[in-house]
Amino acid sequence: MADAHAERVKGIFSEIARRYDLFNALSSFGIYRSWLRRVARTAACTDADCVLDVAGGTGDVAFALCEACPPASIELTDFTPEMLEVAAERITAGANLGVPCGLNVVDAHNLPYGDEEFTVVTCAYGLRNFSDRRRAMREAARVLAPGGRYVVLEFGTPPNAVWRALYRFYLTHMIPFIGGVVTGDRSGFDYLRDSIKAFPPQDAIAQELCDAGFSQVEYKNCTGGIVAVYAAVK
Ligand SMILES: C[S@@+](CC[C@H](N)C(=O)[O-])C[C@H]1O[C@@H](n2cnc3c(N)ncnc32)[C@H](O)[C@@H]1O
Repeated sequence: MADAHAERVKGIFSEIARRYDLFNALSSFGIYRSWLRRVARTAACTDADCVLDVAGGTGDVAFALCEACPPASIELTDFTPEMLEVAAERITAGANLGVPCGLNVVDAHNLPYGDEEFTVVTCAYGLRNFSDRRRAMREAARVLAPGGRYVVLEFGTPPNAVWRALYRFYLTHMIPFIGGVVTGDRSGFDYLRDSIKAFPPQDAIAQELCDAGFSQVEYKNCTGGIVAVYAAVK
């Protein structure tokens, strides 16, 4: 999708790709690992599952699945080649633990796969960055087999007002600072902060998943709602 927003997002992630994993670890105080474990528990893959990871970046979700619930195969995709290059190096180092893992440059709005090709689609911190997240949800539904699971990890709105205020303070003041120190690109993290603040709350996203054709839509808040893991069935 060659729109200005997509080009900007691609530019940011191509700039920060090599420092992305370090930023994640530092900015979340390592808690992101427990969020990944929640994604893996929700996806609950077996060796009968074929997984498509959309906006898969450097591979955190894919490799968490390989460790916790190895599927038959994973198609790890992203529209920023530099993020996938890091994922490729991690595969060379054995992060996929032997699970067949394909890497492909793919736009979430136009998945180059046939209908009903996958049994699980995952997407972590992708929806917030898409130009048209409803279209990306419909694309995920299209490539899922009937009964297939769509598992989404995304930042949320903490329901508790005090926790929400503390989190907003951290987001506003610390995220661009940490991002700037770690990657040297503070402006990319101004974007990150703004995209998190602008993202709709959990109930609204759950409704959008229903509108995209999914059923049994539910979500679980993690760390008091800083992020949420959504599960939806085609
Ligand atoms: C915050 S990173 C998340 C990466 C990975 N899922 C993770 O959990 O660490 C967001 C990713 O979304 C990708 N992205 C943004 N818009 C996209 C699109 N339209 N299609 C595919 N990938 C996209 C970016 O390139 C980036 O790698």
